Amino acid sequence: MTTRTVPTPKPIFEKSRPGRIGCNIPVADTPKVDLAAAVGETRDSVAWPEIGELDLVRHFTNLSQINYGIDTGFYPLGSCTMKYNPRINEQTAALPGFARLHPMQPEESIPGAIEVMLGVQDFLKEITGFDEITMQPVAGAHGELTCLMMIKAYHESRGEGDQRNIVLVPDSAHGTNPASAARCGYKVKSVPTDAEGNTDIEALRAVMDETVAAFMVTNPSTLGLFEPHIKEICDLVHEKGGQVFCDGANMNAMVGVTRPGDHGFDCMHLNLHKTFSTPHGGGGPGCGAIGLQSHLEAFMPAPLVTRGAVGEPVLDDDRPQSIGRVSSFFGQFLMAVRALTYLAAYGSDGLPEIARHAVLNANYIKARLKDVLPPAHDRPCMHECILTAKEYKKYGVRALDISKRLIDLGFHPPTNYFPLIVPECMMIEPTETESKETLDEFCDAMIQICTEAREDHELLINAPQKQVVGRLNEAEAVKNLDVKWQADR
Ligand SMILES: Cc1ncc(COP(=O)(O)O)c(C=O)c1O
Repeated sequence: MTTRTVPTPKPIFEKSRPGRIGCNIPVADTPKVDLAAAVGETRDSVAWPEIGELDLVRHFTNLSQINYGIDTGFYPLGSCTMKYNPRINEQTAALPGFARLHPMQPEESIPGAIEVMLGVQDFLKEITGFDEITMQPVAGAHGELTCLMMIKAYHESRGEGDQRNIVLVPDSAHGTNPASAARCGYKVKSVPTDAEGNTDIEALRAVMDETVAAFMVTNPSTLGLFEPHIKEICDLVHEKGGQVFCDGANMNAMVGVTRPGDHGFDCMHLNLHKTFSTPHGGGGPGCGAIGLQSHLEAFMPAPLVTRGAVGEPVLDDDRPQSIGRVSSFFGQFLMAVRALTYLAAYGSDGLPEIARHAVLNANYIKARLKDVLPPAHDRPCMHECILTAKEYKKYGVRALDISKRLIDLGFHPPTNYFPLIVPECMMIEPTETESKETLDEFCDAMIQICTEAREDHELLINAPQKQVVGRLNEAEAVKNLDVKWQADR
C-alpha cells in the first residue's frame, strides 16, 4: 500500500498558545454585568483558540484551498446539477436593498421584494406550464413533502382522505421520494422499471386503484432518460382518482424546451438550487419551489405571494383551506433574487440553450466512455448518463474505487450506487456550463483509471493518496457523526 504524502492540517485549537492574540479588543466602556445572575449558570472558561493574526489568516486560507467546489474544478455529481452559479447572482443578492431587508418588516415597506418573488413565480409559471407557483419550501425534499401535503388536503376535501393511504414510487426514485411520502403518513409501494428503463406501465396498472393517493415520478428519470409514456401514466393514475407528482430535480434537461405542466402532472417541485443556479445547501437553505394546477390552489402554503385588485403586490393570508406555512417568512428570499437574476439574464431565448447543452454534454461523455463504462441503457440520455462499472468487479474494483482514484486525478467523483437498480452505478451529470476541453480531460482520466483497474487495481483500492484525507469509512462517518474538537482526546 502506498503511503500518503500530503500532511493532514492541524485543527486551530492545536495551534493555540496561551496569551497569543489576533485582534485588539477595545476596553469596554459599558457597565459590567453579572452574567451568571442574568442568564443563570455560566462556564468558568471556554477553550478559545489563542493565535496571532497571521497564523489565523494562514490557517483559514490553507483550509479554503483544500476545499473542492465548482469554482475550483469539474463537479459531475449526478442528480445534483452542480452548474456554475454566475457571480452576477451574488452581486444582486448583496445589493443593500435586498440584503438588509428584515423579514419582519411591514408588508407595505417591501413591495419591491414581493415584486421580485412575483417575478420568479411568473417566469416559473411560463417555464413549467403550471397555474400556480410558491417558493416557500427550502429544499427539493421539502417541496416534495409540501406537494404531498396539498394532495392529502385535496383528497380530504373530497371525503377520500382515509381511503387513499398509498403513494406509489418507482424503484429508481431518489430516496427523498419514499421518505417524503412516509413523512406525510402514507404507505409506500414500489413500481418497477422495465428493461428499457421506463416505468413498467403494466406493473403500474396492476397496483393503481382507489387506495392510491399519488404516484411520484421523476422526469427525466433518475436513469437520465425521458419517460416516453408520461401522458399515458398520468391518464392511468387520474382514471382512478390519484394525483401525479413530478420530481423536477432534473428540470435542467428540459428547461425552456418542454413544459411539465402540459404533460398531465398535478404538481411538481423544482430545485432552484439546481436548474436556476442558486447555491446548494444541505437540505436547505436552498429553494424547492413548487408548481401546481388550479385544483390544488386552495391548499397552497400561506401566505400566497400574489397581486391585489389593481395588480399591486400583496401577501394573501386569507386561505382557510391552506396547509399552513411550511417555512418561516417567505422561504429563502435571497434565493429568489439570485434566480430572478439568472432567469432575466438568459431570457426565453437563452433558457432552451441551457437544456440543449446539458443534454449534449451528457451524451458526449456517454459516447466517449461507452467502451470502458457501458451505459445502463443504450439509448440517448438526457442531462446525465448512467454508466455501469460492473465488469471491473472481476479485477476486485468497484465503482467507488474508480471514483476515489478520480479524486487523485483532480476531479470530483460522479454519484455512485444511485439509482440503486443499476449495478456498480456511476451517474455523471456534466451540466451545460463545462467546455469540451474539460469534458475531454475528465473522459481521459476515466479511461486511464479503467486501464489501471485492469493492470494495477491496488492503485484504485488505496485511492485517494494525494489528498489531506485518505479513504474514509463513509458508513461509520454517517452513523457516528463527530465534528466536535475535544481538548482531552
Ligand atoms: C431526483 C432528486 N429528487 C429530489 C432531490 C431532493 O432535493 P434536495 O436535495 O434539494 O432536498 C434530489 C437531490 O439531489 C434529487 O436528485
